[in-house]
Amino acid sequence: MPRKLFVTTALPYANAAFHIGHMMEYIQADTWVRAQRMKGTAVTFVCADDAHGAPIMIAAEKAGLSPQQFVAGIAAGRAQYLDGFHIGFDNWHSTDGPENHRLAQDIYRRLRDNDLIDVRTIEQFYDPDKGMFLPDRFIKGQCPKCGAADQYGDNCENCGAVYAPTDLIAPYSALSGATPVLRTSEHFFFKLSDPRCVAYLEQWTQDGKLQPEVANKVKEWFSRDADGRAALNDWDISRDAPYFGIEIPDAPGKYFYVWLDAPIGYLAALENLFAKRLGNAAEAITACDAYLADPELEQVHFIGKDIVTFHTLFWPATLHFSGRKVPDHIHVHGFLTVNHDKMSKSRGTGISPLKYLELGMNPEWLRYYLAAKLNARVEDIDFNTEDFIARVNSDLVGKYINIASRAAGFLSKRFGGRLSADLGVEGRLLLDGLRAQRATIEALYETREFGKAIRETMALADRVNAFVDLHKPWELAKHAGADAAKLAALHDVCSVCIEAFRLLTIYLKPVLPALAAQVEAFLQVAPLQFADADRALGHHTIASYQHLMQRVDAAKLEALLAPPETPDLAAAGSGTGLPALPGGTALAAEIGIDEFNAVDLRIARIVNAETVDGSSKLLRLTLDVGEGSDPQGQPILRNVFSGIRSAYAPAQLIGKLTVMVANLAPRKMKFGLSEGMVLAASHADDTAQPGLFVLEPGPGAQPGMRVR
Ligand code: MSP
Ligand code: ZN
Repeated sequence: MPRKLFVTTALPYANAAFHIGHMMEYIQADTWVRAQRMKGTAVTFVCADDAHGAPIMIAAEKAGLSPQQFVAGIAAGRAQYLDGFHIGFDNWHSTDGPENHRLAQDIYRRLRDNDLIDVRTIEQFYDPDKGMFLPDRFIKGQCPKCGAADQYGDNCENCGAVYAPTDLIAPYSALSGATPVLRTSEHFFFKLSDPRCVAYLEQWTQDGKLQPEVANKVKEWFSRDADGRAALNDWDISRDAPYFGIEIPDAPGKYFYVWLDAPIGYLAALENLFAKRLGNAAEAITACDAYLADPELEQVHFIGKDIVTFHTLFWPATLHFSGRKVPDHIHVHGFLTVNHDKMSKSRGTGISPLKYLELGMNPEWLRYYLAAKLNARVEDIDFNTEDFIARVNSDLVGKYINIASRAAGFLSKRFGGRLSADLGVEGRLLLDGLRAQRATIEALYETREFGKAIRETMALADRVNAFVDLHKPWELAKHAGADAAKLAALHDVCSVCIEAFRLLTIYLKPVLPALAAQVEAFLQVAPLQFADADRALGHHTIASYQHLMQRVDAAKLEALLAPPETPDLAAAGSGTGLPALPGGTALAAEIGIDEFNAVDLRIARIVNAETVDGSSKLLRLTLDVGEGSDPQGQPILRNVFSGIRSAYAPAQLIGKLTVMVANLAPRKMKFGLSEGMVLAASHADDTAQPGLFVLEPGPGAQPGMRVR
């Protein structure tokens, strides 16, 4: 019986485009899933947008969209990243789908029937202007410890103090600026302090489902009282309207806190896949429940180190006490930094995955590089420019791809692409050695030691290259015309290379799926599985060799990393005694203040951004310049075409503030009327210094404010 796996990655918040940290998680999980499938394991691999919560509701409001419209816009941008990096999810869904509403409510009812829900009155800050309770991160004020201004409701960025929002001095709402007032409200709690929960989780977290370092960390969360009894705190799972979320049954105006329904979204994404496959939502419920309840099925979640509590306490408790099967493994990874820069969790930094693709960089370079650095521990890993170039160019291309390119030409020119089946003693020994590593490499993928799997594979590639250097096919080829023995030797050596290349391709296929597909076409073989390592190609004809992979171009990598904040001002004239040309261009002629005042610059909110059919340069922006609404109550918005498509994905712009020329005469363009211009910075010579950077005002600016 083949193994059965249900695998997920964490569900990303639907408030922004993916950053490179997200891609790392998907690449890790995708590589693991592909390795599983190559051994015949039946895997279902899903993910979804995490759509709910106050921050998304507020971002949508700022963008002038309903939360549903807002998250739909984000969802529409996902495929280009996932397809671009060959992430093979079977389904991408949303936690706001009907399946999740039903599942979350059903699970909640079962927890309630199990006497694990408690209702308690709590006191919380309320924004009287917005008419809503404020999440901690939307309350600001002076730090109670050090007095620093403008600190968030839960901790101080200046002195690091941790406190409750009620401790802040002179608190204010980050949404409206109003002074928040304390109000009471009924909240629903999941009674994790119930001895049943504590006992269950203490056992569940220590029985091998977690990495040892994770299990040790989790142990600390079970604090012990004087009698040595473990304890956990109850978990507040409700939020008051207005909230973008799932309604709590029998509790009008109450919604599930986003983290209650988010992991249930794993199950919803699966059920939605069943519905798509079966073409029937009702049948999908039964089929999905049966699939999940199968004792043979292993449920595996890949997550980052910041969301361990949710997946090791709340999630297994939610499942177990609602009568469902619990996860079998939680695979936790560390964070990705870029040249040792910590990236912001929401904004990312350094590398935009989309820009990477748009620059024409090969997605499998990144997959290979990250795989080479990943292991099974919760370690942060760093994207380092020089290291990236070295590993891709010297190892991936220099050691592996080169084997094929060194041998294929001779085979097609001299032997019509036919392989020799004899191979010679040394060749057979070499290949036996490569085959012998199959079990080791498979096991390294299984245990997520991808870095070691790559190292083992590259060590094998070294052996193959040493074999080539020893037998020198180029020398054999010189004499092969006159010497039949040399011709036969050339045939054997090159055939060994191709067979070795096939074996190495099997070992790298989980990491390089698109390349492997090209190799399969070149070798004229069926999709490679691990078991194919034990077979030989034998008498076989290959197709002609097409170049498989370029080396990394350092200039592209530099363009990718060009930090928007610090443009390199090294100008044409520097060091020559000539005046420097800032940004690559001489300053324009002097103007007076009146001429400047004639240009009306305003703060604009980008309410919507979309690509323009038929134009590779333009984005269509919908801008709110604070012009109010028309007599029908429709907001007055501007339509502006902007040549910034090369630098921004629409999802990166929606909701942002920028600066526009608001009194520019409207211009009729091929695609419609453009009613203004947004401001962006760039170097005069965009090949020397690529990049385009839309202006953003400092915090607090509002649409319509004049810039002067
Ligand atoms: N929505 C929650 C997860 C809900 S799961 C039921 C969330 N979303 S997130 O978008 O902030 O993060 C999604 C995943 O990306 C998490 O596993 C997180 O750890 C991971 N990463 C976020 N930044 C990362 C890096 N810099 N590096 C690697 N992974 C990173 O949390
Ligand atoms: Zn402080």
